[in-house]
Amino acid sequence: MEKVGLTVGLSSNAGHNSSGRVSREKMSRRKNLAWLCAITVVCLLLLYANQRNTSNGNGTEYFRPREHTGILPLLNAHKYHGTSRLYGVAAGTSFDSNAYPPMPTAHNVTIADVLAYQRALIAAECTDSETGRKLPDGMTPETGGKPSRSLIITTWRSGSTFLGDILNALPGNYYHYEPLLDFDIVQIRGPPNDSVAIHNLRHLLHCDYSEMENYLEFGRTHKYLFSHNTRLWQQCERFPQFCYEPRFLGPFCRLFPRQSMKVVRLRAALVTPLLEDESLNVRVVLLIRDPRGSLQSRKHRVWCPGRPDCDDPSTVCSDMQLDYEAAVELSKRFPRRFRVVRYEDLSLNPYRMTKEILHFYGLPFHPEVKMFLDTHTKQDVGGVSSTYRDSKSAPFHWTKDLTFDQVKIIQDSCVAAMRSWGYRNATSEQELFDNFNPLLPYSVS
Ligand SMILES: *[C@@H]1O[C@H](CO)[C@@H](O)[C@H](O)[C@H]1NC(C)=O
Ligand SMILES: *[C@@H]1O[C@H](CO)[C@@H](O)[C@H](O)[C@H]1NC(C)=O
Ligand SMILES: *[C@@H]1O[C@H](CO)[C@@H](O)[C@H](O)[C@H]1NC(C)=O
Ligand SMILES: *[C@@H]1O[C@H](CO)[C@@H](O)[C@H](O)[C@H]1NC(C)=O
Repeated sequence: MEKVGLTVGLSSNAGHNSSGRVSREKMSRRKNLAWLCAITVVCLLLLYANQRNTSNGNGTEYFRPREHTGILPLLNAHKYHGTSRLYGVAAGTSFDSNAYPPMPTAHNVTIADVLAYQRALIAAECTDSETGRKLPDGMTPETGGKPSRSLIITTWRSGSTFLGDILNALPGNYYHYEPLLDFDIVQIRGPPNDSVAIHNLRHLLHCDYSEMENYLEFGRTHKYLFSHNTRLWQQCERFPQFCYEPRFLGPFCRLFPRQSMKVVRLRAALVTPLLEDESLNVRVVLLIRDPRGSLQSRKHRVWCPGRPDCDDPSTVCSDMQLDYEAAVELSKRFPRRFRVVRYEDLSLNPYRMTKEILHFYGLPFHPEVKMFLDTHTKQDVGGVSSTYRDSKSAPFHWTKDLTFDQVKIIQDSCVAAMRSWGYRNATSEQELFDNFNPLLPYSVS
């Protein structure tokens, strides 16, 4: 925008010059300069537009925080940890590039070619460069092994993009991102829609893409369904002819020793059948956020306002309270496979909490994960003042963005949920401005 102003300024200045060769030359030089500026501006605009197109389909507007804040890297990690990243080049793990097979490129390439290529990529990615040992060995479904299956159950704007990308930073991970996207902006709490939802989750966790027509149909027109699954998306971009084919997706998914999944539309009690299913061996983190924070963040999404499951405080908090009651039950029944995490606790202690969460999932605190945290919680990514301190304040922006009246409306609708999950009432506008600490101890046992 500044550049446009500059161009206009230059060309109108040129008109004020009096006659004479010198000023004509000056004028033509200025004209040239103006042209140069105009061309630069056009190029910048094209670049900008192009970047927006490639990094985010218009659908990912769903999950984009406001652009100008310093919390961008923390909440919007996938943008910087996206498809363009090369495997294994980061975090001090250097792989011998000779280990990579040549990428199939021919138009005549077969699914088997792509699978063979990906198998080699995973092997390279999952080989410890010092010991030569394969890290998660014998766990791929295609070799009869059982992959780790790490689920995040949460709701919109609760930090799950961040936690999801932490899991996806691990080598050999296949990311089932938002598998219930085709259900629209609704919560699934029970019959009749829970059976389809659970059917879909179970199928995906088994790498079975049959009977998934709605899901795949949705993906064909909304690329963000798959684009967060970076390892899949890399091949989808190269071989779009296979991307939404069950005969490709199934075998492709079975190549991976790790699967992760984040779900924002399924309430916690409904994961019970998945936890009971021994053949799946899933581990589930229920990710919770202060309703004042999630509701504030949702105000800025185009898709949320007017959808009661998303923007009505009493609906949202009734779900939160039901989640609490489910969490009490589930942590008793599945102490090693179910746990809760508050987004605020994760953001305040990203390293310690990430280690704890990975340990719970049975996953290592891999150098790739450390690098992810290094670059997404404290570095100055993108020039904004995205410091470590900023990432720590990310969950608390609502204290400055909401009026006290808005805060009060939410608190009045959320008495039980806030008490259960340990979120403190604010009692005045002044309190909110004085570095309000909303966190209290809580327990699900
Ligand atoms: C989103 O993109 C699709 C095609 O990619 C287009 O048809 C649609 O109009 C776009 N929607 C918006 C809101 O830009
Ligand atoms: C594509 O591959 C098939 C066999 O896999 C072969 O018969 C055919 O000639 C190939 N077509 C082209 C254009 O290379
Ligand atoms: C849930 O089920 C009802 C009744 O079968 C149906 O009308 C509705 O469209 C379903 N909602 C979703 C999101 O699938
Ligand atoms: C929080 O405030 C609400 C009224 O807005 C009140 O009903 C509730 O008891 C308060 N909770 C606590 C823990 O003080």
